[in-house]
Amino acid sequence: MTDLQEKAKNIIKSNSRGDFTIPCETLYPFQWNWDSAFCALGIYTYNKERALREIDSLFNGQWENGMIPQIIFHKNNTTYFPGPEIWQSNTNPPSSCISQPPVLATIIWYMMTLGLEDKTILNGYFDKLMKYHKWFVNNRDPYNKGLLSIIHPWESGRDNSPDWDSAINAIKVDDSIHLERKDNTHIDEKERPTNDDYNRYMQIVYKCKEFNWDNKKIYDEGLFNVCDPGIQFIFIRACKDLYKMAVYLHRTEYYTILENWIEHYSTNCNKLWNVHVNAYSSLNIKTGELHDCISCASMLYAYANIGGKEQRDAMIKHSKRILYATKYGFPSYDPHQKRFDSKKYWRGPVWCIINFMLSIGFASIKEVELSKKIKNNTNEIIENNGFFEYFDPYEGRGYGGENFSWTAAVYLIFKNELFV
Ligand code: DGY
Repeated sequence: MTDLQEKAKNIIKSNSRGDFTIPCETLYPFQWNWDSAFCALGIYTYNKERALREIDSLFNGQWENGMIPQIIFHKNNTTYFPGPEIWQSNTNPPSSCISQPPVLATIIWYMMTLGLEDKTILNGYFDKLMKYHKWFVNNRDPYNKGLLSIIHPWESGRDNSPDWDSAINAIKVDDSIHLERKDNTHIDEKERPTNDDYNRYMQIVYKCKEFNWDNKKIYDEGLFNVCDPGIQFIFIRACKDLYKMAVYLHRTEYYTILENWIEHYSTNCNKLWNVHVNAYSSLNIKTGELHDCISCASMLYAYANIGGKEQRDAMIKHSKRILYATKYGFPSYDPHQKRFDSKKYWRGPVWCIINFMLSIGFASIKEVELSKKIKNNTNEIIENNGFFEYFDPYEGRGYGGENFSWTAAVYLIFKNELFV
């Protein structure tokens, strides 16, 4: 193991809070859903037992209705806004009341390919994952349209992506909204979402609270309802991996339901096809409007392995154009667009976990050159700049939180040559 791999391990260990790992000190002091899942896979490369405890602590936060929350507040901490006192989930442990991209089934499937074979453990995970996926279908697609919505930008994990600029800008902010932001006291505000963004994020939360977190009402009457290609593609991929788990575990009673979800959500991706851009885009469910540009989430079509020949050809063209436009790929937003900002959170910077999914996605559709370049760029950007939350696609400079757990996890996964 090289010094840098050792450093990656130490970062994850120092961010460990017992059975779960925080993304980074001060900025994100709790357990985050997809952060923790990616972290678990990184931990699995050196400590299998601890990796499973990471997964167990995520399931420990699962709600009765199946939702695995975006943030689980296992322990108190005052360095983050909005904390448990704002969400008031009335759950034990307390949590936020929305979810995040459902990468967990895929992460567990990868652990299985690395030797996790205990059927008692896996059957337990399988049941909880099925419950989680059912929650997504019932609550984020209540009319069975084959399109999964997010009801808050935080649910996508890509908070200030231009993918929802028009949906978010349409929200009117009450004068009474009061922000106690802490993120930009830890990090340069140029690298974070704006106060205008935060006002709207909180306006959505307060509206959902008014609806008592009734998901159907929120879907119908809430302030924000967008189909995010990221969630849609990650869900399809996760269902495919859940299906493989079902086969391994002989859970035959779930074959049809999983086959139907895979078919239904894959087919309806056609509704995300934007002929003006010739690519998959986000879709504002409230207005029927497709976003007019491409973000990194569109490229996860390869990870989901969906689309007809014409669509795949067009997406490959875009992928190459975007990947070769900057020194380090893959930028989180199309650098040829005016809304691109190389420093600002999800409006341009490179994110290692997206690169992980893109790299395995492109490898699975035999786009080996794209897959390798993304993987090499990820290793290089970390080796030259450190374990930051995100990076400048031109200079490679790191932004946001430092000593970041999922960046360290992806480095361990890539350097162990585990999947790609
Ligand atoms: C934040 O607080 O910046 C997170 O992205 C919310 O999940």
